[in-house]
Amino acid sequence: MKDETQVKTDVSRRDFLGQASLGVIVLSSVAALAGTLRMAKPSVHYEESRVFKIGKPENFPVGTVTVLEDRQVFIFSDNDGLHAISKVCTHLGCLVAKTSTGFQCPCHGSKFNLEGKVIAGPAPRPLPWFEISQSVDGTLLVDATKEIKSGTIFKV
Ligand code: FES
Repeated sequence: MKDETQVKTDVSRRDFLGQASLGVIVLSSVAALAGTLRMAKPSVHYEESRVFKIGKPENFPVGTVTVLEDRQVFIFSDNDGLHAISKVCTHLGCLVAKTSTGFQCPCHGSKFNLEGKVIAGPAPRPLPWFEISQSVDGTLLVDATKEIKSGTIFKV
């Protein structure tokens, strides 16, 4: 009687070890497959260039403010020329809205004057002005990586 019980326990242990081994093989295979599939997709996240074309000067008639929503920048055109001001609040990055006196952030209430200087709220810095240049074919370029001194106008 004791021998039968002993045999059943040995078989059970053998089955357990077999299933555990199979489980380890399956999990290892799944992990290896996941790793292989992960390598097929590049880890690099491509960002849009922060130097971008905005078209010809004729696109910005004198006296207009153009909002380039996809680039998060305002283009101002006046008799002196053009200038580009960031639409991104310097507090936590919300997008500011243009008002009659400047800009206002909807998130925490920062207010900026028309030059982008902070006049109220938690924003620690003024809205940056970006460099505008013109390529040889006459197309205007905004370089959002180059902050310039506020008041700097690009003469067309
Ligand atoms: S993000 Fe603009 S005030 Fe906070």
